[in-house]
Amino acid sequence: MGCTASSGAKPSRSCSAPIASRSCSGSIGFREKYAFHEKLSQGAFAEVRVCVHCDTGRECAVKILQAGGSEESRLEAQRECLLMRRLAGHPNVVSLLDNYNDDRYWYLVIEKCEHSLCDMLLANSGVQEKHLLCAVRQMLLGLAQCHSMHVVHRDVKQDNFLVSNEGVVKLCDFGLATHEKPDGIFGIAGTAHLMSPEMVIDRPYNQKTDVWSLGATAYAMLFGRYPFKMEKDRYPHLKSETLLMRRAIAENSPPPTYVAHKGSPQPSDAACEFVQALLQRDPKLRPSARECLLLEAQIANAARTSKKASQEYLIPHLLGICSGLCPLPATCCEKRESKKEGEFCRTSFQLAKLA
Ligand SMILES: Nc1ncnc2c1ncn2[C@@H]1O[C@H](COP(=O)(O)OP(=O)(O)O)[C@@H](O)[C@H]1O
Ligand SMILES: [Mg+2]
Repeated sequence: MGCTASSGAKPSRSCSAPIASRSCSGSIGFREKYAFHEKLSQGAFAEVRVCVHCDTGRECAVKILQAGGSEESRLEAQRECLLMRRLAGHPNVVSLLDNYNDDRYWYLVIEKCEHSLCDMLLANSGVQEKHLLCAVRQMLLGLAQCHSMHVVHRDVKQDNFLVSNEGVVKLCDFGLATHEKPDGIFGIAGTAHLMSPEMVIDRPYNQKTDVWSLGATAYAMLFGRYPFKMEKDRYPHLKSETLLMRRAIAENSPPPTYVAHKGSPQPSDAACEFVQALLQRDPKLRPSARECLLLEAQIANAARTSKKASQEYLIPHLLGICSGLCPLPATCCEKRESKKEGEFCRTSFQLAKLA
């Protein structure tokens, strides 16, 4: 017996009834267990919707991945599911609650978060440095969990952190995540503005690539711009923004500055040092996520005594990292990568009618 899908209907409030994790190919299908509600996001590779568990009324998010197109897309969906299962249970990582697959789709039922990271920052007028650092600390906790399970996320950016109703920041989107490999990982993956130098110059990389991306994200939160900028005049032959950005990162040119633009608040010296440590170009010298947490605790202490730390960040400045002043151009989001070392290649798709 299926339960009625109610597309467009107002979803019921979430309840805390647990949903048992089940095998990837249970005989009862997703549609018999859950009702679809409104769409949360339509990405190139996945659709995310609200869904409600028919028996318990619990409201969740479901990420629907194509699996029927090719063996490759099936393996990608399976990998995202398996990695999420492995990471579930940490407060700073979204939990996979349930999963199903049929011939065409994989349905990853995930705890529903109420806000994006940007929403949370923008919801409070008068965001201070300590609020931004507190978010960064939680982002690091999620990342440290990922790394302790030998998973490299490869798409660390503000869009891939969500916030629960209780205000807990959670790492999401394991679509590009992969297992660590003894000889390093190869292949370009993620978002150009946040890619590490070792990745853009095609060297084997490891977990430290995520630490760099988190450093670049923290930089954007504090300065309202990304660490590197594209120099179109210097490289007129490079037509693609992605290539321009990758060139700037590879050549460290121009290098990031730690001075705020006119009109934006200047972060405290301690916060600048922290971000600088994460943006250490040599991955061997770059701290691990765990080491960054220790560093962050010292920084937060030092920042407390700094007058600058209590300056309020302006909404336009924060809006800049969310969408306005320094958006991530769609052309800079790479989900395709080289096929070295069995790395995968994602193909875009549109979901067929779901509800
Ligand atoms: N658990 C969730 N709760 C609420 N919204 C979610 C959840 N998971 C994903 N989303 C929404 O869907 C968007 C895309 O999800 P994500 O997993 O990042 O997939 P994509 O590969 O398309 O980027 C997120 O940025 C967020 O807006
Ligand atoms: Mg995402």
